[in-house]
Amino acid sequence: MSASPKLLPRCFGVFGDPIAHSRSPVMHQAAFAVLGLPHRYLPFHVPAPALAAAMRGVAALGFGGVNLTLPHKQAALALCDARSPAAARIGAVNTLRVVDGRLCGHNTDGRGFLDALAELGDLGELDALGERASATVLGAGGASLAIVDALLTRFPRLRLRWVSRRPERIPAQLPGLADIPDAATRVQPCAWSELRELSGQLLVNTTIVGLAGGPEDFPAPLELGGLDPRARVVDIVYPRRPEGLLDRAAAHGLRVQDGLPMLLWQGVAALELWLGERPSQAAIAAMRTALYS
Ligand SMILES: NC(=O)c1ccc[n+]([C@@H]2O[C@H](COP(=O)([O-])OP(=O)(O)OC[C@H]3O[C@@H](n4cnc5c(N)ncnc54)[C@H](OP(=O)(O)O)[C@@H]3O)[C@@H](O)[C@H]2O)c1
Repeated sequence: MSASPKLLPRCFGVFGDPIAHSRSPVMHQAAFAVLGLPHRYLPFHVPAPALAAAMRGVAALGFGGVNLTLPHKQAALALCDARSPAAARIGAVNTLRVVDGRLCGHNTDGRGFLDALAELGDLGELDALGERASATVLGAGGASLAIVDALLTRFPRLRLRWVSRRPERIPAQLPGLADIPDAATRVQPCAWSELRELSGQLLVNTTIVGLAGGPEDFPAPLELGGLDPRARVVDIVYPRRPEGLLDRAAAHGLRVQDGLPMLLWQGVAALELWLGERPSQAAIAAMRTALYS
């Protein structure tokens, strides 16, 4: 008797450069173990010039799916045969799925960010505020695009201040901005020199400030005292740096989160795309344990 197609071993992986630090293999392998699946998820060191050949290999070898990390997310978009609406709006792909030999590009970073944000409390709190809800996103690099897209799409009346060293680049940074209702009036590009006391219900750091080896301080001091007392402060960098933004925010009594929950939930969303069903709670718990160990 032949094995069910679901139980045939498949190869999954993550392409990046560098890649040795990636926590995705241990996270996905933990899910496969709990789900009783014989699949393997491996890290692949793929330098930028090799991306097109590596992606062709994904289809040719019948991979179950692949994640893409730095520096490939934007370059991969044009190399896909089809793109999800979110990937097209963001202009970047972090998850590849093979459907009938064709490469479909998805972006699960935005969904991962929102699912992680919900761990800090019901997102309905922001819905209830309507156009009084406001957020500040620090940094306009690749990761910020998925987060800004997710926030503007999920909260259609949210106002968003988007802070960058070069705010003049911002409208062009996010290809789908024009497709999001009222985005032109809801998004306010902001230079660090214009950043006064912070306000609103959400502050998200997407810059590399605080990353090991990255800058230690933001280009301007962050005055957290003006944030809503129930504000959420998320720093997508991980691991959490002692005495950094999150410790300061926690000292103000604010709800804080580092980048591991976003990493977890973007992985859960990728797994759901590949397996065609939501991973079980036990699998998600195992992924979380693997990430935090
Ligand atoms: N938790 C997760 O799941 C997750 C997912 C993706 C990324 N990340 C993390 O997010 C961080 C950014 O990733 P990325 O893909 O957006 O990288 P990126 O595209 O290289 O962007 C770099 C970011 O850092 C900012 N920046 C660089 N030097 C700075 C400085 N001296 N002062 C202030 N800002 C500075 C840039 O701001 P400007 O707008 O001023 O250029 C930009 O926002 C990384 O630490 C990455 O590990 C986490």
